Amino acid sequence: MKRKNAVMTVATGFLLFLLTSAVSVTFALFAYGRLEQRGASLGTIALVMLLVVVFLAIIFTIADVIRRRITVDKPTEQILSATERIAAGDFSVRLQTEHHYENYDQYDEIKENINLMAAELRKSEVLKSDFISNVSHELKTPLSIIHSYAELLKKEDLDEELRKKYCDILVQASKRLSDLVTNILKLNKLENQKLLPELSKFSLDECLAERVIALEELIEKKALTLDVSLDEMEVYSSKSYLEIVFSNLLSNAIKFTNEGGRVALTCKKEGKNAVVCVEDNGCGISAETGKHIFDKFYQGDTSHAKEGNGLGLALVKKVIDVLGGEISVQSEEGKGSAFTVVLKDAVV
Ligand SMILES: Nc1ncnc2c1ncn2[C@@H]1O[C@H](COP(=O)(O)OP(=O)(O)OP(=O)(O)O)[C@@H](O)[C@H]1O
Ligand SMILES: [Mg+2]
Repeated sequence: MKRKNAVMTVATGFLLFLLTSAVSVTFALFAYGRLEQRGASLGTIALVMLLVVVFLAIIFTIADVIRRRITVDKPTEQILSATERIAAGDFSVRLQTEHHYENYDQYDEIKENINLMAAELRKSEVLKSDFISNVSHELKTPLSIIHSYAELLKKEDLDEELRKKYCDILVQASKRLSDLVTNILKLNKLENQKLLPELSKFSLDECLAERVIALEELIEKKALTLDVSLDEMEVYSSKSYLEIVFSNLLSNAIKFTNEGGRVALTCKKEGKNAVVCVEDNGCGISAETGKHIFDKFYQGDTSHAKEGNGLGLALVKKVIDVLGGEISVQSEEGKGSAFTVVLKDAVV
């Protein structure tokens, strides 16, 4: 409650009390004077005084009941019914405040908080159901591939080349499933902050070189030119977290670049900051796609939708947020993309 309102409440209470007492005393004195003038006995005066007091008490009780009904019972009932609806799972509840923002009383503040709580619950309900439908969709596609190709493999007179091809498809689909589950678990842990990063001193250029080596086969398969320029530097950060970031950025650069294209990886020291850039001359990202690339399950390039689940950059963003770094993208459709990661104050 605002301080001004608290003062107003005390002042109003005091005035009411003053008014009540003044009216009672004046009324009693007036009645006493009139009765004495008429020479009434002390017993009659006392009885009339008692009746006057009882009458005034009834009037004030009625007035207080009406006041309580308006100022206490009404908002309490509204709040009670709202909390009951929320408890029953109805998050569309919105309560009207009685006063303008500057004059909010405690009930208005409780109502505002209930509105915020209901809105938050509704938001997380929507996120949850979106998440479930996305996961179900992502599970269904590889599962139906596995089912159909396993059926095909059952044929007895299958030629060796086809058998190998079907097995490769099965391996790919099951890898997609396992990547999906791994990424969901990682995201979940990051979102719940269960997985606090283990910070240590390590060589960032070596960590990046290891990521490149892990992806060498894919780079060779697409005959990509790889330019690597890494300043030697020791950083204090989480190696396992950064591996998630750079593996995803590099595998995206490889995936979204045509055969014979170019991928570049640079790592520079800028004061205490480490700046890593993953660049490619692949398909690039349109302005519209660029708005969503860090969203969970978003895949802009539908031609690659069967490779991956659209969780890579969502994970990258989450990790960078946890580590307190920054990530930015520069891209032009048809020309290529550059993802820049800044690890603040990481260089030791
Ligand atoms: N280097 C890039 N070039 C062009 N588009 C990119 C690049 N990196 C990301 N994108 C776009 O951003 C989208 C989201 O990327 P993200 O890594 O989250 O998902 P994904 O690579 O499709 O799937 P996953 O990472 O789960 O394997 C991609 O589908 C693609 O449209
Ligand atoms: Mg990806």
